Amino acid sequence: MSIGRVVGDKVMEIRFRTGFAENLQVGELLVIEDDASNVKYFVRVMDVEHGADADRDDWVLREAGGLLQKDSANEANELGEMEDRLYRIGVCSPLGYSSDGSFKKTKSIPAHFSRVRRADAEDYEFLRRFLGDVEVGNLRSGDRVMNFPVGISGLAFPHHVGIFATTGMGKSNLMKNLAMSCMKLRRYGFLVLDPHGEYYDGGESGKMGLRHADLEGTLEVFSSRQLDGPHNSLRLAAGEIEIGDLQNLYEFTQAQLECLQAAQYRYGDAWLTELNQKKVSSVCEDMEQRFHEGTVNVIKQRLESIFRFGLITSDPRLSIAKHVIDCLEASRVVLIDTSNMYEAEELLVSTVLSRAVFERNKSLYANKKEFDKLPPSMIAMEEAQRVLGQAKGTIFSQIAREGRKFKVGLCAVSQQPKLIDPEIISQFNTLFILGLADKRDREILKNSAKQDISQLDNEIQTLMPGEALIASPFTPFAIPTKIHLFEEYVRREMGDSEGRKERSAGKALTGFKFY
Ligand SMILES: Nc1ncnc2c1ncn2[C@@H]1O[C@H](COP(=O)(O)OP(=O)(O)OP(=O)(O)O)[C@@H](O)[C@H]1O
Ligand SMILES: [Mg+2]
Repeated sequence: MSIGRVVGDKVMEIRFRTGFAENLQVGELLVIEDDASNVKYFVRVMDVEHGADADRDDWVLREAGGLLQKDSANEANELGEMEDRLYRIGVCSPLGYSSDGSFKKTKSIPAHFSRVRRADAEDYEFLRRFLGDVEVGNLRSGDRVMNFPVGISGLAFPHHVGIFATTGMGKSNLMKNLAMSCMKLRRYGFLVLDPHGEYYDGGESGKMGLRHADLEGTLEVFSSRQLDGPHNSLRLAAGEIEIGDLQNLYEFTQAQLECLQAAQYRYGDAWLTELNQKKVSSVCEDMEQRFHEGTVNVIKQRLESIFRFGLITSDPRLSIAKHVIDCLEASRVVLIDTSNMYEAEELLVSTVLSRAVFERNKSLYANKKEFDKLPPSMIAMEEAQRVLGQAKGTIFSQIAREGRKFKVGLCAVSQQPKLIDPEIISQFNTLFILGLADKRDREILKNSAKQDISQLDNEIQTLMPGEALIASPFTPFAIPTKIHLFEEYVRREMGDSEGRKERSAGKALTGFKFY
């Protein structure tokens, strides 16, 4: 059904008139049928304006004054025939056009008075081939959710994924969707580092976690706390930890750094445990008094915080790194729950495992046969701004720069993309942009997105929790998406009768429309 008629205007800004009562929303996807050329234009509403058929510019103002007077006199007060004079203008940006079954960038404008109508799932059938196999939600038009699944391709994992939103907008929920879809597919490796303890069982009552996606053999869990289900304990071998890893956690002075290097030289593979266990005086003695006791002391204090809970073992056989790598190579999802750890330990686990995965893939690169067998994999990191603040130095920035070649990508989750180095953000090909309140955060994404999203600022500001735009070079335009509420997704996939009942009754758990 037609909701409006085109009234101009430019290729990059198409305007149409619609009824006064038409509930047109920013972000809606519309179709314009140009009968003259038989071309179908796809547009997205960027703004909605009011207009009135009146001889004088101040007509609306004067009528409003009249209505106000009636208000104060408590007189019956209806718009009456005025309503016929009022209309709305939809201001749209072009997404592209289709003719003869192909989709191209818009280079022209639809004829005056062309009909405008709402898009339905059928119109977007052409998108299906662009939207990959890792499902995360449904196509959305404004706040209307279409029965059309949306996802990203797992082949895009090594090209890095960014998930950016203000707190409470749905980053963790999206991550759980990504993980569950990977579990369903068993085509990709996905390492999820969870410092908040929310991915295993949902973290709080009423929420679900990956354990509820009852897909046997697809999830391997490592945790430093006791979990209510099968899991491995978290251990790293002291020999796997490098000085560079510690530099990710702490700032060291030049003297402290030299002392660490000297210890590594003096004690070999066991340097870390030796430094931790030996007395300050014996360390100084072993190093022929080249370092002050104070220097050694500071280092030892820092090591204490990572040795506190038995995370580090001197027995290399107990390290989880190999097990994690094996699981990723078998296309499984690996969940590392570090929720009861201090930040230093948690970062150490993330650093050592990420480096192990990256180096393993890199080492296989020369062996084409083996390398071809490797599934693409991705490492998800919460609060990524902590480790991606500088373009150089950490294993994470190295993966951001080189991971693509070695089939390993980063999935950076952050509330503050402005704190991530712009050079690193520009490596992120797929961006999930959820509601972002801060202007500077939006600016940074606008500048680094692989699609022009500069016209979507209004839309990004109006996004509700779970509503996202997916910008990537793999789709013809940024895809407006309603991410599945994870609990709903699990129920649907697990064929839970309760979940089906809720959907068929159109009752959403959170006030959203579900199909
Ligand atoms: N796709 C969605 N559909 C419906 N509701 C959602 C969706 N995503 C998130 N929500 C709602 O928003 C709440 C917060 O989501 P979530 O925990 O994923 O946010 P977050 O961005 O990870 O927040 P934080 O920055 O605090 O970690 C959820 O508990 C849920 O109620
Ligand atoms: Mg979260």
